[in-house]
Amino acid sequence: MSYDKRIDSFVKQEMTQSDAGAHAYDHVRRVLSIAMRMGRALGADLRILGAAALLHDVGRAKEKECGISHSILSGEMSIDILGEVGYSQDEIESVRSVIRTHRFSEGITPTSLEGEILSDADKLDALGAIGIVRAIAQATSSGVGVEGFLKHADEKLLKLHQMMYTDEGKKLAKARHSVLEDFVTELREEISNVES
Ligand code: ADP
Ligand code: NI
Repeated sequence: MSYDKRIDSFVKQEMTQSDAGAHAYDHVRRVLSIAMRMGRALGADLRILGAAALLHDVGRAKEKECGISHSILSGEMSIDILGEVGYSQDEIESVRSVIRTHRFSEGITPTSLEGEILSDADKLDALGAIGIVRAIAQATSSGVGVEGFLKHADEKLLKLHQMMYTDEGKKLAKARHSVLEDFVTELREEISNVES
């Protein structure tokens, strides 16, 4: 059984209210798609995984206001909608746990296959061509520019392929990692040849 489509409507409504949120909703749809593909291949519970993938970043706007991690806030914001569409208490707790452990920057180890898959899918969207676009957009909007992008790539993105949990995730990350690595090498070379 898969997730309830009303969860998607809720997430879309919550996230498309701000510009940043609109980009975040695109990210959510990509993560959902990767997660469901991996979930089908690995025999995961798609009802839990689909709900968690859709809801994992829904608390991002609130995080900016109050400073609490969106991996906690998204879980809290999931309770009512999941109850409304018929998820049991146990299922709601499972979805919250999957969301709580998704964030690679927090380093909390997932305790279920669904948690491993969501974490891997989220990391995959930070890699490859789309990962480059997202990181440059983030570096530009926060004012740190190309140097900020390169720093983030070195400190975080180029390490993600070693942090994958599932074999499927490792395979997908390998290809995306090499796209990122080639781009970073080329970018460094181009900007180092500027005459003073
Ligand atoms: P998480 O939800 O795992 O904490 P982040 O909020 O750190 O993820 O990252 C969300 C997106 O923004 C990712 O694509 C990431 O690469 C990018 N990003 C985060 N911090 C930076 C930064 N300092 N410079 C460039 N990109 C960043
Ligand atoms: Ni995410």
